[in-house]
Amino acid sequence: MGSLVLLFIGFCLILFLLRVQRKKNFPPGPYVFPIFGNLLQLNLTNPVPDLQKLSGQYGKIFSFYIGSRPVVVLNGVQVIKEALLKKSVEFAGRPQDLLVSHLTENKGVILADYGPSWREHRRFSLMTLRNFGLGKQSMEERILGETQHISAYLDRSAGKSMDPQHLFHKATSNIICAIIFGSRYEYENEFFLAMINKMQENAKLTNGPWAMLYDSLPVLRYLPLPFQRIFQNYHSVVEHVSGIVTQHNVTQVAGEMRDLIDCYQKEMEKQGDSNSSFDKSQMIGLLMDLLFAGTDTTSNTLRFAFLYLMTHPHVQERCQKEIDQVLGEKPQASFEDRHRMPYTQAMIHEAQRVANTVPLSVFHTTTKDTQLMGYDIPKGTLIIPNLSSVLNEESQWKFPHDFNPSNFLNDEGEFVKPEAFMPFSLGPRMCLGEGLARMELFLILVTLLRRFHFFWPEDGGVPDYTPVFGVTQAPKPYRLGFRLRGRQGV
Ligand code: HEM
Repeated sequence: MGSLVLLFIGFCLILFLLRVQRKKNFPPGPYVFPIFGNLLQLNLTNPVPDLQKLSGQYGKIFSFYIGSRPVVVLNGVQVIKEALLKKSVEFAGRPQDLLVSHLTENKGVILADYGPSWREHRRFSLMTLRNFGLGKQSMEERILGETQHISAYLDRSAGKSMDPQHLFHKATSNIICAIIFGSRYEYENEFFLAMINKMQENAKLTNGPWAMLYDSLPVLRYLPLPFQRIFQNYHSVVEHVSGIVTQHNVTQVAGEMRDLIDCYQKEMEKQGDSNSSFDKSQMIGLLMDLLFAGTDTTSNTLRFAFLYLMTHPHVQERCQKEIDQVLGEKPQASFEDRHRMPYTQAMIHEAQRVANTVPLSVFHTTTKDTQLMGYDIPKGTLIIPNLSSVLNEESQWKFPHDFNPSNFLNDEGEFVKPEAFMPFSLGPRMCLGEGLARMELFLILVTLLRRFHFFWPEDGGVPDYTPVFGVTQAPKPYRLGFRLRGRQGV
């Protein structure tokens, strides 16, 4: 009995020594348990509803703990704008010691910390994506080219139904491949399928409980646990991408810029060796970032858009009427046409709002000690901009809980974009693929709506809009019914 009491006292003492307490004037939040912090209080398969509840309890800015690491969650348009726009530099860092940071070795853009290398690579990527130097073929032509492949693929099965996940995934991945590697892959290409599978598996694993364990208990990191698979997948894609870069050196023609790799090589030569952040390992990091960030995001948004279009036939018909009217006999749509399609524009933005594709953005950190809404936040604190809280914020939307393009239309039927529309986040770390993604969504949706009618198949069960949480959120698998429309513009 005596030893049991001693054991109990010892246990309590350990818990006492390991206890974590919030610093004075740190954002409030739930009681923090030793070792796991608040992890066991959150549903890790989808923490968004729990974060929403905590915000209701503790306010628009609150904190919780991953192990002993404090995390501050920003909710609602006002707080997120205050941090990411008004205090943009203070909130522009990225964590450097999470699994994903170890994976990418902080190369490239997405997970690089705020500093010269990130700034130079971001500027280079934006310039290149904006067509300064991407050769003869414009971004629009590359997207339209891939759209023709999607159309041709659907043509062969018109009148039937299919799960669109793989098709959209391959198409958006191909668009980014065309931009960075200068070539697309056939949809059945073995390497292409393996690369997509590895990236999808990593998207799932980096978001699961093993990644959380890696982040909260560093002692486990070197053990042969399932998170080692993430490293294997990543390095296998890196190996292939390195091979493509080496091949480029052989086939490159002086002065001809075929793709982003050629532009990067030119930039490396221009900068020379003098303190340049441009080198081969950074190039591979950037290519991996663009491949990863440019695929799931757009393809999951398309999947959500078609789920809602099938189950809201009146919205689909109204878009088709507008598209037919504006395009007339034109062989294909152009991005410029969006200015004459307010309803279709509103539908696409509404699809992005409900898709809520990157619900918790990419984690930020504070680059110096700072203050937000009266709270003190020390340098290096992990920050989660809860974009989901803004895209569904009741005070910001006419119909926050429905799929309704009127959220983006004024009384005159003109397209308007409320300030709470921030699926690409805000500030200096804002998505650098926004322009590309918007062009893809418009050209793909308009081309397909013009050619096909989409319907919920009879054997499709009951539509379920509940998202599957992830770094990028997806709809549950569903079947897309489609048939050719009476008039065929494409
Ligand atoms: C609908 C599609 C997309 C959505 C909703 C989306 C959303 C986001 C979000 C929320 C972030 C985090 C911003 C932050 O940290 O505050 C981000 C970052 C980023 N996105 Fe996207 N994205 C999309 C498509 C793309 C595409 C097509 C590309 C490829 C060109 C891309 C490349 C990037 C990169 C490189 C970053 C990191 C930027 C930085 O850290 O400076 N994204 N995106």
